[in-house]
Amino acid sequence: MLGDLKDQPVDKIIALIQAYREDPRPVKVDLGVGVYRNPEGVTPVMRAVKAAEKRLWEQETTKSYTGLAGEPDFHHAMANLVLADTVEHERLAFAATPGGTGAIRQGAELIRMAAPGATIWLSAPTWPNHPSILKYLGIPVREYRYFDEESRGVDFSGMLADLESVAPGDVVLLHGCCHNPTGANLNGPQWEELADLMLSKGAVPFVDIAYQGFGDGLDDDAGGVRLLASRFPEMLVAASCSKNFGIYRERTGILMALAGDRATQKLAQSNLTFLNRQNYSFPPDHGARLVTMILADPGLRDDWMAELEAVRRGMLDLRRQLADTLRDMTGSDRFAFIAQHRGMFSRLGATPEQVAAMREDRGIYMVSDSRINIAGLNRTSVPVLAEAMVKAGM
Ligand code: LMR
Repeated sequence: MLGDLKDQPVDKIIALIQAYREDPRPVKVDLGVGVYRNPEGVTPVMRAVKAAEKRLWEQETTKSYTGLAGEPDFHHAMANLVLADTVEHERLAFAATPGGTGAIRQGAELIRMAAPGATIWLSAPTWPNHPSILKYLGIPVREYRYFDEESRGVDFSGMLADLESVAPGDVVLLHGCCHNPTGANLNGPQWEELADLMLSKGAVPFVDIAYQGFGDGLDDDAGGVRLLASRFPEMLVAASCSKNFGIYRERTGILMALAGDRATQKLAQSNLTFLNRQNYSFPPDHGARLVTMILADPGLRDDWMAELEAVRRGMLDLRRQLADTLRDMTGSDRFAFIAQHRGMFSRLGATPEQVAAMREDRGIYMVSDSRINIAGLNRTSVPVLAEAMVKAGM
């Protein structure tokens, strides 16, 4: 039986982690997987998370099962964090999931159950696991243009032109903020225009928001998803707590399905609960409980927000340093886009050969499409990367 299996492709982001570890050079720079690191290269446990864990250890009296779709307190805390007061919670169905990836998977399965044959539209490029999961589930996929390789900003006219072909009931998967892998994001008027177009087409938005708080701040980063929630009768939102709470390995995420009315909400809830039961029964609880505690307690919440804001500002500083260093080295503004991008990632625009050369020469690891994790840099490695880019002929 097992011998009949086909070998599977390795995820190119995850493969980088291993390649970096195996590189024996003492000086190397890991700009691969999207994990925050402080200037010392450490992914810290956030203060509020530590404090909540201590409290939980003292107060928790049982490890018995939670609700099959997760705990209502977590659902509502996350709905408030992501959607604020843009929708009534009675219209939301929820599934707590193992990370944001679990939410994407459950959302895709829900779509397949509700609308077999509906196409899901993906940005070109997007996070590689999006098409991988959808292909695995046999869901038809189409792409819309997103990134302008020249300006390294959003190709908004291309995006709108491609989405003209969306059929009623098709789903459009959008990055809520901090686009992965490009770092180029829609502005407020563009979200409005996009919403107009998708409404006119009868499309259903599916928003993946995995980096809320890493771009322009917690509220600004949720501006797009909140706008859509206030205008669409139905939509799906997959939110991750991995990055903004720094609880990557706890696997904490949530799928929220916005329904047009109470009866549809009940139907969506019953299906999401069913899907959790089929796929993993009860969702992980530890991270969800910490997030709920932090969001409910004003002291913990303030401290979490302050630390998250410091993380965000640190990444913005690194963006500016890199853009300034490249400007000084090249005497040109062609890398100014790095300071305009938001979130953990920027797509630099290097060819695969240039990416390979930077890895060979300087031990700099980035994804082959030249996506870098800004948080993998620090004051020392910014000039190292800038020099390597110039030397590679960028
Ligand atoms: C990334 O894009 O690097 C992160 O979302 C981590 C992952 O699972 O790929």
